[in-house]
Amino acid sequence: MLEPLMANLKESSKKHAQIHASPRCFSRSRRPVRTGSQKTKPNSGIERERIMKLETLKTLYIDELRDLYNAENQLVKALPKMAKAASSEELQDAFEKHLEQTKSHVDRLEEVFEEIGEKPKGKTCKAMKGLIDEGSEILKEDGEESVIDAGIIVAAQKVEHYEIASYGSVRTFAQLLGKDRSADLLQRTLDEESEANEVLNKLAEDIVNPEALMEPEPVGASSER
Ligand SMILES: [Fe+2]
Ligand SMILES: [Fe+2]
Repeated sequence: MLEPLMANLKESSKKHAQIHASPRCFSRSRRPVRTGSQKTKPNSGIERERIMKLETLKTLYIDELRDLYNAENQLVKALPKMAKAASSEELQDAFEKHLEQTKSHVDRLEEVFEEIGEKPKGKTCKAMKGLIDEGSEILKEDGEESVIDAGIIVAAQKVEHYEIASYGSVRTFAQLLGKDRSADLLQRTLDEESEANEVLNKLAEDIVNPEALMEPEPVGASSER
């Protein structure tokens, strides 16, 4: 019964990524480069450099690949901690399996960099750092195992959705730039991210959330903090 819903979600996440990666977005919102007569802020030099840097789709593609390369490397370090903190064996297995996939995502990104003649290089992905920091707060919490597992799944699904959005965009950029082999590699990773998200959905719905719901409310406890 879940399968048609999952298929829809997968399709809509692909479409969503394609809409956001549409070249129309770029033709409509081109920002003018400031001239010397305009008011300057202390960082305006950096800003102008950035506008120049992102003048072609290829530079944006490289920028996004660097963000992803850093994000995946952050995850290679974070996933073992999430596996260790999970109480459900199924959840531990899911994280261990996704860790192996994540290592191959790093390898694929290196091949993608190679196709455009760029050295694999990361650029700190602040979004992934924030998602991991927020997730690590849950790992430190005291409480019922199933409730904490449910919280770990929420954190992990936020990570997967970030990756799905990013890979959908870079896959589309690779297609537009005629980098067919890279588009294929990025699509394979996108499929694995979507699968990982579905595995987490299923674990939450079938095991973790029902167990968390069974936890009795402590006497005199308030849900407000
Ligand atoms: Fe990944
Ligand atoms: Fe992932």
